[in-house]
Amino acid sequence: MSTITISNLTFSYPGQDNLFTAQNLELDTSWHLGLGGRNGRGKTTLLNLLRGKLHTATGNINMPVQPLYFPQTVTHPEQLTWEVIDEVSSTELWQVQRELTLLGADDSILYLPFASLSGGEQTKVLLAVAFADEAGFPLLDEPTNHLDAAGRQQVADYLHAKKQGFIVIAHDRHFLDIATDHTLTIEKQQLVLTQGNFSAYETAKKRTDAREFADQQQLRHDIGRLKQTAANKRDWAMSREGDIHGDPHVKGSGGTGHSGFVTARAARQMKKAKNLERRMDKEITNKEQLLKNVEFIDPLKMNYEPNHHEVLLRVRELQLAYAGVPLFAPLTFELHRGDRLALVGPNGSGKSSIIAAILGHFGGEISGEIDLAETATRSLVRQQYPDNTGRLQDFADKRHLNYEDLLSNLKKLGVERSVFNTPIELMSAGQQKKVELASSLATPSGLYIWDEPLNYLDVFNQDQLSQLLTTVKPTMLLTEHDTDFLEKVATKTVRLTPLN
Ligand SMILES: Nc1ncnc2c1ncn2[C@@H]1O[C@H](COP(=O)(O)OP(=O)(O)OP(=O)(O)O)[C@@H](O)[C@H]1O
Ligand SMILES: [Mg+2]
Repeated sequence: MSTITISNLTFSYPGQDNLFTAQNLELDTSWHLGLGGRNGRGKTTLLNLLRGKLHTATGNINMPVQPLYFPQTVTHPEQLTWEVIDEVSSTELWQVQRELTLLGADDSILYLPFASLSGGEQTKVLLAVAFADEAGFPLLDEPTNHLDAAGRQQVADYLHAKKQGFIVIAHDRHFLDIATDHTLTIEKQQLVLTQGNFSAYETAKKRTDAREFADQQQLRHDIGRLKQTAANKRDWAMSREGDIHGDPHVKGSGGTGHSGFVTARAARQMKKAKNLERRMDKEITNKEQLLKNVEFIDPLKMNYEPNHHEVLLRVRELQLAYAGVPLFAPLTFELHRGDRLALVGPNGSGKSSIIAAILGHFGGEISGEIDLAETATRSLVRQQYPDNTGRLQDFADKRHLNYEDLLSNLKKLGVERSVFNTPIELMSAGQQKKVELASSLATPSGLYIWDEPLNYLDVFNQDQLSQLLTTVKPTMLLTEHDTDFLEKVATKTVRLTPLN
């Protein structure tokens, strides 16, 4: 056991607000430490600082252990998985195999091209690599993305059972609760450490928020009262002044004696009232700023244009295969106007492949029929979007998106204005996902196709999206591993039965 020491850490990217200001922290390397909090607050940045990938002008980080980062960069995914493992780590293959077994993954995937593995299988391989060298210290950046419900549970149990410590970022409460025993969050540029899992942290945070809210109510009440007093005083002062100026027996303005005294006093009162008002305004602004940390949900907008077609998609006896090996038992379903149809199946069962086939770019063999209504305007949320790059304004122009609509939804999703000028490829993982999502929302469409919309999003956004879909009720084909979410939004479910 050793200690990671962070002293007086301040960090910002050029031209942006500080992500951390003068932070001190000691982390025990035996902890199962969960790193949580909203998108763009600096979680990945903190891991990069611990890895020595970023440097700070002020402050110091003492890292006594060898960081092992997940997800590792795979430059040649077309290689066989064991070759990829060889490329990204210096550990022995048997050590990786040992971890793969603990993760419930089959050894045979080592001899398949890495690119052909499902997202969940790729995740397990890379996690196994991060834990293969027991002397290292895993820094895991969102291993839950792309994992199906069973996979998440397996990884959570796997992490729970680990003797060694690690840091893991995730936006999944249930997962964090099982896998972690300490919680670190980033709030108002500060690193906040809580003993206990994410629920323990949330309970504590709810209490603080409730207190802050009560203080706020009290403050509003006080402000109202003070404003009234100030107004009364000002009225009184004005009326005194009026009395004096309106008095025909008093010559000249300002005068002397009684009238001068009253005018001076009125002016003083007036000044006092003004000062008070200014002070209160400032206090309100400060408090409102604070309130931003008490998260609230702003409804999103989407450009749904119901299509005149009753049936937007007909799929009959569809089967997809790679190299003659079918992915699932033949499927038949229809997507009617107003349906939100969820394609459900474990990792690797072929959900994204069905979407690719519907859109006409599936690379394997297709049998059966797919009939997509010709004129249906479509709007997509993809799992990968490497072509979303550059400045938002140029991106919007290129896609013929209404820039205002795009920004407005991004803002509601919690992307700060200061990020709007950051090129998309430099944004945080969640912010990039929000660009993909906001651009789908801004696209006028009669048919939405969303492939795992919740990946990378923080917990507040998940609620926001389910609220939007249950209000607007658009026609949608979607995949998602989060069963709570599907229960709220899906009107139909089509289950894929894997054949292997
Ligand atoms: N290279 C960069 N240049 C400029 N800004 C950056 C760069 N990298 C990150 N940022 C900004 O810094 C902030 C923090 O980013 P970071 O990736 O650490 O967030 P995060 O907490 O990991 O978020 P998420 O939950 O979305 O992954 C974001 O506002 C992001 O846009
Ligand atoms: Mg991140």
